[in-house]
Amino acid sequence: MFEKIETAPPDPILGLTEAFRADPNPAKINLSVGVYQDASGVTPVLETVKEAEGRILGTEKSKAYKPITGDPDYDRRVQELMFGPGHELVESGRAVTAHTPGGTGALRVAGDYLRQNHPGARIWLSDPTWANHKGVFSAAGVETATYAYRDPAINGLDFDAMIAALQQVPAGDVVLLHGCCHNPTGIDPKLEQWDRVGEVLAERRLVALVDFAYQGFADGVEEDAAGLRRLSDRVDELIVCSSFSKNFGLYNERTGALTLVTGDRETAGRVISQVKVCIRRNYSNPPAHGGAIVSTILADADLRARWETEVAGMRDRINGMRQLFVQTLAAKGVDRDFSFIVDQRGMFSFSGLSPEQVDTLRQDHSIYIVRSGRINVAGMNESNADALCGAIASVL
Ligand code: LMR
Repeated sequence: MFEKIETAPPDPILGLTEAFRADPNPAKINLSVGVYQDASGVTPVLETVKEAEGRILGTEKSKAYKPITGDPDYDRRVQELMFGPGHELVESGRAVTAHTPGGTGALRVAGDYLRQNHPGARIWLSDPTWANHKGVFSAAGVETATYAYRDPAINGLDFDAMIAALQQVPAGDVVLLHGCCHNPTGIDPKLEQWDRVGEVLAERRLVALVDFAYQGFADGVEEDAAGLRRLSDRVDELIVCSSFSKNFGLYNERTGALTLVTGDRETAGRVISQVKVCIRRNYSNPPAHGGAIVSTILADADLRARWETEVAGMRDRINGMRQLFVQTLAAKGVDRDFSFIVDQRGMFSFSGLSPEQVDTLRQDHSIYIVRSGRINVAGMNESNADALCGAIASVL
């Protein structure tokens, strides 16, 4: 069976971390995978997470299976975090949520659900998008296509081209949008543009699937949900894939959620029954610990307030690094205008470096960047900025 198996190519993002770990150069810098690092290069456990874990360990009485869709309390809190407490979507019961293993798990369950229940529906991805989107949906058997998004000439959103592309998408297809902090570009639609996207989706009878992995990393936990909320005002149906890897720092606890917003409670009941079938055939039911942490923090006013402060701390450090990045490149004599990096939102900077320049940075300087030119700004710090910008200046 195994003798003739060929080696698969390494993952374009996680494969770089494997290569980074194997690199003996003590000055190596990893700016590939989207994982937050503090000023000393450590990915910390948030203090509020530690405190919540202490409470959970002290009170946990059983390791029995969770329901297929996870704890109802977690599912409700996820909805409240996205839409706000008391929101009609939360109160009416027309939105249903399943706790999934991470945001990737949510995307895969969404893919399985679409393939099983809406065969023939394609999913439209922004050009560019997260390197794993196409793979996840293709593996589920859902055909992918792309719509225009970034204008390289302005390093910004080509909104007219995006709308023109969406107006050509056949009714019944699904359009993947990034809730905030677009990965990899860091370029988000403005609120009025979310309104317009919602109008086009409603007119054309398209369903949005919002990948929401960085809530809190652009402007704030509440502020970053504004686009999603504006969209939900304009469409009746919606799919959201949430990840708490970044904003709770729960990367290895695989904590995410799939939410489906339907027309009414009765429809929601039928839809979640199909989602349960997909989950049962995949991983059966979700892991408990990460979900319990999120629920514990969101349920306690003090913990929640302190968590938001911790998220703000991560956001502010990244934005400081954006400024330092642009200043240090200029100080190194780079004359290309990189000022757009300050305007990009979230963890990533879409630098415009070519794949060949990225390869040279890795080979000659042990600097690891995704080949699309995406830099994880959260991997930068005062100690490595000089070496990083010097190396970038040399490849430019
Ligand atoms: C990233 O884009 O680097 C993160 O979302 C982590 C991942 O799984 O790729």
